[in-house]
Amino acid sequence: MPGLVIVGAQWGDEGKGKVVDLLAEQADVVIRFQGGNNAGHTIVRDGETFKFHLIPSGILYPGLTCAIGNGVVIDPRVLTEEIDGLRQRGVDVSGLRISANAHLIMPYHVLLDTAGELKLGKLEIGTTRRGIGPCYADKASRLGIRVQDLLDEKILRQKVRAALAPKTQALKELEVERKKLRKKGGAEDWDARLDLHAIVEEYMRYGHRLEPHIADTAKLCWEALDRDGTVLFEGAQATMLDLDHGTYPFVTSSNPVAGAACIGAGVGPRDIDEVWGVAKAYATRVGAGPFPTELDDETGERLRERGGEVGTTTGRPRRTGWMDLVALRYAARLNTISSLVITKLDVLSGIDPLHVCTSYRHPEGAVFDEFPYHQSIIHEAEPVYEELPGFEQDIGGARRESDLPKEAREFLDAIAESAGAPIRLVGVGPGRDQVVWMGADAPDLRAAA
Ligand code: IMP
Repeated sequence: MPGLVIVGAQWGDEGKGKVVDLLAEQADVVIRFQGGNNAGHTIVRDGETFKFHLIPSGILYPGLTCAIGNGVVIDPRVLTEEIDGLRQRGVDVSGLRISANAHLIMPYHVLLDTAGELKLGKLEIGTTRRGIGPCYADKASRLGIRVQDLLDEKILRQKVRAALAPKTQALKELEVERKKLRKKGGAEDWDARLDLHAIVEEYMRYGHRLEPHIADTAKLCWEALDRDGTVLFEGAQATMLDLDHGTYPFVTSSNPVAGAACIGAGVGPRDIDEVWGVAKAYATRVGAGPFPTELDDETGERLRERGGEVGTTTGRPRRTGWMDLVALRYAARLNTISSLVITKLDVLSGIDPLHVCTSYRHPEGAVFDEFPYHQSIIHEAEPVYEELPGFEQDIGGARRESDLPKEAREFLDAIAESAGAPIRLVGVGPGRDQVVWMGADAPDLRAAA
């Protein structure tokens, strides 16, 4: 005790990294349980900016056990670069542990993701093109390569050979996309990425580099939990991008919901004590797919600019919109969110009135208070808004609930009441100290055990 899961309650990029960074100080283990380097966390520490794609944000605490769980898909090139980058900046990475069971993103996964998106043309999902979907597909097809395979050249070669056969065939059918990519300078190494010997050689090198970090990460969690330590389960992406529960097919290929922490880290449901859902005070989405509260106007542009809404991983501008309480209530129930964290409240200052979406209206008249199960309705739904008074003040200096303007508190109350979960923490700026613990000081996680 306790096991605490941090999940995204919207479409990703809610600022989960900052929350994990704040709580990691009191944790014994921080473990990521799904996704891969499609994620991007930005942490500002003492004026220095750190961007993470694979390594849990807790790595900035020297010696803290930071694990990449079995549910994560790892591109070892990106991981080794991330380790090198942190070392160069003097960060101690000795606490990094990598699950031997995690699957590896292979060069052909990236090719399939990129060429596959080009083939879809206008129907593209807008993936991050990091090979996430094809890697999870191979995992489910039992053609995946796992971290532990890096420790045995014979096994690695056998498995890569088996995995390559269907890829070579599939990629032949993507000849047009290959030509397009070549024109853009993105496919010079297409053949090399399908060369068995080159792949095995490259991946054996990664294996030597990563070997000191490879571990049984589930056991590390059990040991911490069994001695009443604190384990933080760090989610990536978010509820509305969940493969089963999100806006399929415009989703990622893993399960970012809280229940997946059990599978992706190797613990049981009774190991989870709390689930904190992180949501921005407004909404953003990267990539294609329905987004009922999207703003295609000046306010949307203002949110994008003031919120710095550009993807950490791909540099794409994010789509912006109002807070969607229908989706948030859905996320609260689906994840059994015990506390909410509302980030970037400061971005709303100067906007009056504020809007929150309380239900969806279908063009044929039906009103939905709950998230509709039918995808077509979500595509066509129009948001029904409640207007709330805005606030003018710059709230970047607020540190206590009483420092927040009355209108900001009312806005937060409306969110908490609708979602049915209390707000524990509010973000009022990018800095680590720019937070307000609602009603109290920072929680003592260990005392909660
Ligand atoms: P993939 O995960 O790269 O396959 O992309 C699938 C969808 O999830 C696309 O719409 C991406 O933009 C979105 N996505 C993936 N990772 C993130 C993230 O960390 N934040 C926000 N959106 C993401």
